[in-house]
Amino acid sequence: MIYPIVKYGDPVLEKRAARVDEFGTPELQKFIDDMFESMYAARGVGLAAPQIGFSKRIAVIDCSAGEDPAQKVILINPEIIAKEGSQTGEEGCLSVPGFREQVTRANKVTVRAQNVEGESFEMTGEELLARAFLHETDHLEGRLYISHISALKRDLIRRKVRKLVKAGEWS
Ligand code: NI
Repeated sequence: MIYPIVKYGDPVLEKRAARVDEFGTPELQKFIDDMFESMYAARGVGLAAPQIGFSKRIAVIDCSAGEDPAQKVILINPEIIAKEGSQTGEEGCLSVPGFREQVTRANKVTVRAQNVEGESFEMTGEELLARAFLHETDHLEGRLYISHISALKRDLIRRKVRKLVKAGEWS
């Protein structure tokens, strides 16, 4: 099923998500399938469980946006274990629609996570994939990408969002 995407302002996005400790269940597989479906429907390349209202440490990524099944990544209880270099580029978030900002991140990132069966693995990504690892694990800490931009730019977004909320155009 396709879940609606939770938007900036909802407390679930600013809360540290809980670890997953049950693996290999049909419920977990179904939830992950739903996450991919919800992400593709929203035309995103990454989605964290809090963005559909579940405060759990699960993220899905597909930098090919559904074009190449080999690029589907499932991260359960992920941890960033290495970062290298730097890249600056435009970043956005399905939970902050209509806004994009320049964000500087590491260019090469290694993540350690568990798969649906609970097996631990490590994966290294560069450029967009590295950015997605960092963006999605941030979500699980209750941190949005706008925490990486200047306070001035963040306030501007906050004010614009407040106006959209008042106009009933942000839900
Ligand atoms: Ni996001």
